[in-house]
Amino acid sequence: MKNLIVANWKLNPTTQKEAKSLFEKIKKGVSRIKNAEVIICPPFVYLPLFKGLTLGAQNCFFGEKGAFTGEISASILKDLKIEYVIIGHSERREYFGETDEVVNKKIKKVLQTGLKVIFCIGETAEERDAGKKTEVLERQLREGLKGITKEEIKKIVVAYEPVWAIGTGNNCSVDETMSSVLFIRKVISTIYNRGIADNTRILYGGSVKSDNSGSYIKNAGANGLLVGGASLNAEEFNKIVKSAE
Ligand code: PGA
Repeated sequence: MKNLIVANWKLNPTTQKEAKSLFEKIKKGVSRIKNAEVIICPPFVYLPLFKGLTLGAQNCFFGEKGAFTGEISASILKDLKIEYVIIGHSERREYFGETDEVVNKKIKKVLQTGLKVIFCIGETAEERDAGKKTEVLERQLREGLKGITKEEIKKIVVAYEPVWAIGTGNNCSVDETMSSVLFIRKVISTIYNRGIADNTRILYGGSVKSDNSGSYIKNAGANGLLVGGASLNAEEFNKIVKSAE
């Protein structure tokens, strides 16, 4: 199983020129990487501009087509040869009101359309402080994966992103990440089975930088990383990819 390094550009950069330049620098930098898989998730409108690396979208709608102003379907993404869709990112949950039920509908639609899912879960600071971390992770997993079959789960990568660690510079410790990754595997094994749990890729995300990235892969049992801020700097991102080889 190759480690997976996902660049989540979020709402950046502002111009096509900057987007193309960032993409080309990353592409060049990772061209000799053999043992890690890189996925770039830019804003929707930049997706058709890029060739040569695996692409993912940051979101999509659960409906197929019709009167849904402003939405993008999984089928549109498939037609553009996009392979992955990030679903359930905490910013979608927080700013766009996405519930576990909506996340579940989106996951189902993406899988039915033949794309793969990067399924984000993670507790907030309040939930962690209240001792509810595992309860929240288990709920997000069970609700998000409701009705997803043993075959379908193979097309899902789970990203553990503690909300308090995202964009704060306050990355989760290796020990705490390790215990969360183990817990996530345990829940997946009770929903499916041990074999499936062992083969599911679990990423860590939240203030990943090149000076902490390698430790999540080497010491926390993560199978890759979801990188936000640091993916906007090609040099830094390429170092992160290298650390995952
Ligand atoms: P960050 O974001 O690396 O900027 O903390 C990670 C994410 O939200 O996916």
